[in-house]
Amino acid sequence: MTPIALGVLASGRGSNLQALIEAAHSGRLGGEIVAVVSNVEDAPALQRARGIPAVVIPSRGLDREVYDRMLIDEIRKHRSDLVCLAGFMRLLGAEFVAAYRNRIMNIHPALLPAFPGLHVQRKAVDYGVKVSGCTVHFVDEGTDTGPIIIQAAVPVYDDDTEETLAARILRHEHRIYPQAIRLFAEGRLQVQGRRVICWGAPTAGEAPPVALVNP
Ligand code: GAR
Repeated sequence: MTPIALGVLASGRGSNLQALIEAAHSGRLGGEIVAVVSNVEDAPALQRARGIPAVVIPSRGLDREVYDRMLIDEIRKHRSDLVCLAGFMRLLGAEFVAAYRNRIMNIHPALLPAFPGLHVQRKAVDYGVKVSGCTVHFVDEGTDTGPIIIQAAVPVYDDDTEETLAARILRHEHRIYPQAIRLFAEGRLQVQGRRVICWGAPTAGEAPPVALVNP
């Protein structure tokens, strides 16, 4: 496996970025992070990027096309094979998505297609679902609509708040995001329409009959 080059886009706290950095250091990622780009000047994520080129491209006041072109230029400069959104709170425009078709991943804190968008842990609690989780998916032109790569499910308890559920989900985000990137680096992901086929993953015939039941 040839290690891939990753560009990470982040807007906030950066705990997923941290998980990717740690996975890269321990050789679990299948690649190296070559750039961290943020649209937010004082994003804590930037502090985590020690030793990795970190760039701020403020988005305020710029229309999407102009901003997208600036992002594409920056990502190209670092020769990224894959662009990973790690809490990047800005929608990418069609030009960016077309330039990196099936080479942009996002982590989302819900079991898509349920609860796309923002504040989704609160929405899951308020809706009363008994199971939620997180999703790594390729990014397309829609909001959290791209082909799904990996999902992890967690129970939602009666006394959960937005915060307790978010914390339970986040632990699994940190686990499945590096896993998805490694599958990509190993060349095991193939997008067929809406579906992502993962070569070597358990098939219906061989997988154990597991279920997450709550309560
Ligand atoms: C994570 O929970 C991530 O899934 C979510 O923002 C958080 C960022 O945390 N992303 C989205 O909601 C994107 N729609 P982090 O900055 O600590 O990685």
